[in-house]
Amino acid sequence: MNILVINGPNLNLLGTRQPNIYGVDTLDDIENWINKELKEHNINLQWYQSNHEGTIVDRLHGGIKDKNDGIIINPGAYTHYSYVIRDAISAISIPTIEVHLSDIKSREKFRHVSVIEEVCLKQISGLGKRGYLEAVYTLEKYINR
Ligand code: DQA
Repeated sequence: MNILVINGPNLNLLGTRQPNIYGVDTLDDIENWINKELKEHNINLQWYQSNHEGTIVDRLHGGIKDKNDGIIINPGAYTHYSYVIRDAISAISIPTIEVHLSDIKSREKFRHVSVIEEVCLKQISGLGKRGYLEAVYTLEKYINR
């Protein structure tokens, strides 16, 4: 099973970015931790991070050519207003899970809204790095149903 994991703007700064909110792990730490947790599973994760809306859209479109079975996306602040990313997720019809490290519903008002939630299978928010793992298991169950 091939799963693409997309992380949006500012998530390259994990580890030093507001650790009280986002934790102390870097994106590489999270990737290594998840790979270890998934050792017994036949799952290949491709990790991609970008600070640019258009390149995230290009990567989503690439999911068709790359035969991704599922996508996990943490779009960062694009979550709250990017109809472009929403449309790209709708356009590719690959099961997609939205993940947030922090609990977006308990933070500032502008973070309560996700414009991509409706086009995703599920939103997972506030579980820290475990949210990505939960997303993998949810996709695995959905794809093998
Ligand atoms: C985030 C929450 C967003 O509101 C924020 O803009 C981020 C990270 C999270 O993982 O908690 O960049 O998506």
